[in-house]
Amino acid sequence: MSVLPIAQIGAPVLRQRARELTADELASDEIQAFIDDLVETMHHANGAGLAAIQVSRPIRVVAIEVHDNPRYPYKPNIPLTILVNPVLTPLSPERFDNYEGCLSVPNLRGVVSRLATLRVQALDRHGAPIDREVRGITAGTFQHEVDHLDGTLFIDRVTDTTTLTTWEEFARHREPAFREQVRAVVERWGS
Ligand code: NI
Repeated sequence: MSVLPIAQIGAPVLRQRARELTADELASDEIQAFIDDLVETMHHANGAGLAAIQVSRPIRVVAIEVHDNPRYPYKPNIPLTILVNPVLTPLSPERFDNYEGCLSVPNLRGVVSRLATLRVQALDRHGAPIDREVRGITAGTFQHEVDHLDGTLFIDRVTDTTTLTTWEEFARHREPAFREQVRAVVERWGS
C-alpha cells in the first residue's frame, strides 16, 4: 500500500466529472489495490473522507471514515465506508449549516448548507449494493465527498464568504459556537 499525493485546488482534475466504474473494473486487483491506497492516504492525512478524484483518479469512488478524528474532533464516528458509483437522494428539505474543510483546499474552512437526511445508494468495494439512510453531520460528510465526484468543492457552496477562515482562526473565533451547533444537529438528527 502507498500514500498517494492529494491534488490541491487549482489542479484541473478536481473540476472534472468522475466516471462510473464497471463491475469488472471494481473487481480487478488493480482497483482493489487502489482502494487500499485511497484508504491509507485518507488515514495518513487524517481526513474524514477522500474521493478518488482527489488523488488524481477521476472515478466514482470515495472513502469515508471518522474515528475520533483530530481534524474534526466534534464529528460523530463513522465506520470505514467505501462508496462506488454513489447516488444521494434527499429524504426531506431540512438543512443545517456545516463548517467544512477539505484536504484539497489547504487551510481554509467555511460554512456550507447541507441536507440533513439522505438516502445513499452505491456499491461497496466488493460490488454489493448499499442502500441506507444517513443523517446530520454524517450526511454532510457524505455530500462533501460525493460533490467531489462532480468536480464541486465545498467553497463553491459557501454563500456567506465572511465565514471563510483559516484553521487557526477557526479554532480561535468560531469553534466554540460551532461545537454548540453540532450538538444541536446531533440532538435533532443523530449522527
Ligand atoms: Ni474534500
